[in-house]
Amino acid sequence: MKTQVAIIGAGPAGLLLAHLLKAEGVDCIVLERQTGPYILSRIRAGVLEQVTVGLMERLGLDARMKAEGLPHDGFNLADGERLIRIDIKALTGKQVMVYGQTELTRDLMEAAEPRGLEIIYEAADVALHHIESDAPFVTYTKNGAEHRVDARFIIGCDGFHGPSRQTIPASVGRTFERVYPFGWLGILADVPPCNHELIYANHDRGFALASQRSNVRSRYYIDVPVTERVEDWSDERIWDELSIRLGPEAAAHITRGASIEKSIAPLRSFVFEPMRHGSLLLCGDAAHIVPPTGAKGLNLAASDVHYASEALLAFFKSNDGDAIAGYSEKALARVWKAERFSWSLTKLMHRFPDDGVFERRIQLAELDYIASSDAAQRVIAENYVGLPV
Ligand code: APR
Ligand code: PHB
Repeated sequence: MKTQVAIIGAGPAGLLLAHLLKAEGVDCIVLERQTGPYILSRIRAGVLEQVTVGLMERLGLDARMKAEGLPHDGFNLADGERLIRIDIKALTGKQVMVYGQTELTRDLMEAAEPRGLEIIYEAADVALHHIESDAPFVTYTKNGAEHRVDARFIIGCDGFHGPSRQTIPASVGRTFERVYPFGWLGILADVPPCNHELIYANHDRGFALASQRSNVRSRYYIDVPVTERVEDWSDERIWDELSIRLGPEAAAHITRGASIEKSIAPLRSFVFEPMRHGSLLLCGDAAHIVPPTGAKGLNLAASDVHYASEALLAFFKSNDGDAIAGYSEKALARVWKAERFSWSLTKLMHRFPDDGVFERRIQLAELDYIASSDAAQRVIAENYVGLPV
């Protein structure tokens, strides 16, 4: 097979990029290891920045998001007692859209066939070849047969564990990493949210987040040591803990219900540089991971895809390779700022095992400062809604 762009991975990064290229008449093929239903069974975060909403609008795939998504004008930080509201609309003029990443992925996936987008699911043993040349290719096996896709570019949208990043020689690449000593225990339940906006809480007992998927479906998290087992957390135990950590105002409005999903996710900050090597470009989790505090993961994937699609379109439509050459630097400038924000919000809102009473007082002082300072709130708000692309 021959195509202009071979995309590895049909997560949100790969699907968004494929649709953007296809809409402009650039040929591409998506190779995905899993099945479609498997991808749609993964529960991920659910706060979309304007960059992500804008790409869905541009593709004309925003109808369900507009009908079912919830635009939010603000969110809250909490110190165990009070809520500190960050009025993102008043401070930045922008909103965020609460709409599950799984739903966005479903919208992209369902539009693939009607738009003639080729996604090859259950592609095993995907391997990249000759990425330093102008004629790279990808091989994979399916149903026991080996296949080869020749392309002008390969785009690695294959997440943290995919093969693309690993194809870049160690002598060229550099990784930056921080692994956190706790994970987020998440619970999804068909109950109304306790608050109409999100609450990120730092209580003496630890972190908690009250989020939502709709007016009748809630998503909550608490942080737990990475050694914890999800089997040891009954629904009641999680609801009890949330009621304490979120503070009395939120606790008064918590509706308890049976969990429909429960899992523990580790927290990691990770950046790989460069994001391009020869004819291979990396987008999304393939190049970087953020802790979920601030919900930047999908939005960073979307901004990478924005830059990558512009660069590829300039190349194929105007024969201009400058944007391809500048892709890594441009994408990384925004990646590092989102890494910084996610890291700082994680530090502010979690208790670290080595923290003593001094660090606790510093956190409380910072939260008190944020509560009293317009300038501090503006800094948080403009990062939360997403920096410009
Ligand atoms: N061959 C083909 N596909 C692969 C391979 C492989 N060897 N390895 C991984 N993949 C696929 C995965 O199955 C997955 O569907 O690549 C896809 C990567 O998708 P995601 O992990 O969702 O990553 P990305 O598209 O970059 O999305 C960004 O935002 O909220 C965050 O981390 C969250 O998923 C998230 C992300
Ligand atoms: C979620 O709804 O899953 C969510 C929301 C905000 C975050 C992280 C996760 O910062």
